[in-house]
Amino acid sequence: MNMNRHRQPDWNRSIREMFGSISSHYDLLNTLMTFGRDRFWRRSVIASAGIPPGGSLLDAGTGTGKIALEALHHDPHLSVVAADLTLEMMKKGRDSAGDTNIRWCCADALTLPFPDETFDAVTSGYLIRNVPDLTLCFSEQFRVVKSGGKVVSLDTSPPPDTVMKPLIMLYLKVIIPVLGGLITGKWDAYRYLPESTRSFKTPREISTVMEAVGFEDVRYTRYMFGTMAIIEGTRPRRPAS
Ligand SMILES: C[S@@+](CC[C@H](N)C(=O)[O-])C[C@H]1O[C@@H](n2cnc3c(N)ncnc32)[C@H](O)[C@@H]1O
Repeated sequence: MNMNRHRQPDWNRSIREMFGSISSHYDLLNTLMTFGRDRFWRRSVIASAGIPPGGSLLDAGTGTGKIALEALHHDPHLSVVAADLTLEMMKKGRDSAGDTNIRWCCADALTLPFPDETFDAVTSGYLIRNVPDLTLCFSEQFRVVKSGGKVVSLDTSPPPDTVMKPLIMLYLKVIIPVLGGLITGKWDAYRYLPESTRSFKTPREISTVMEAVGFEDVRYTRYMFGTMAIIEGTRPRRPAS
């Protein structure tokens, strides 16, 4: 698998191949690896997004659309666009979700095919760790969210230096690759996923990127011994003229 982040066309192809290859087991593995907490975090993402009744949401890097579905559970009248690079992930989500109002869209989160200020909120789950340019990713989300709207991101974080760190490292280095490898047969993918967590930015560093892009009220909450974080920021309202 070619995982060179600095050559974007190759990187996107590798991402598609990797997530395409694990799409049929992705949701099961996610639930097992998070001890079933993933649904709670996705609900928290939607609660934090503060979407007005009947408003619009973009879920970027939607995968099988779990956050998009959670949004519709919260308010069935929302207009929800679920966008991802990997068709197989979205197909799997669409097939398991059945009839929904989700509009599925094949799109790169670094060049979103939407006009400025289209959505009341933009969410993402486990996307930002996978993109080659975090600043561009947040700039695009900033561009397409309406002024006053929120961007909320759920992702894993490198384990903090606490007494739990050795156990967490064992979990990341051994348990996840073995569990993922045995269930899916895709050993590379389940070595990449924990490795990308260990080498990713901290929530504090991600907040700095969001602030540099222009978001205000940037804040984050950490979960699961600090290995999971929800980070949110608001596109400033335009001053009244
Ligand atoms: C770990 S999965 C997360 C799926 C889902 N959001 C969730 O909460 O479970 C990451 C997803 O991000 C997608 N992805 C990675 N890079 C992307 C990009 N540049 N643009 C759009 N989607 C991307 C992958 O195809 C994959 O479906």
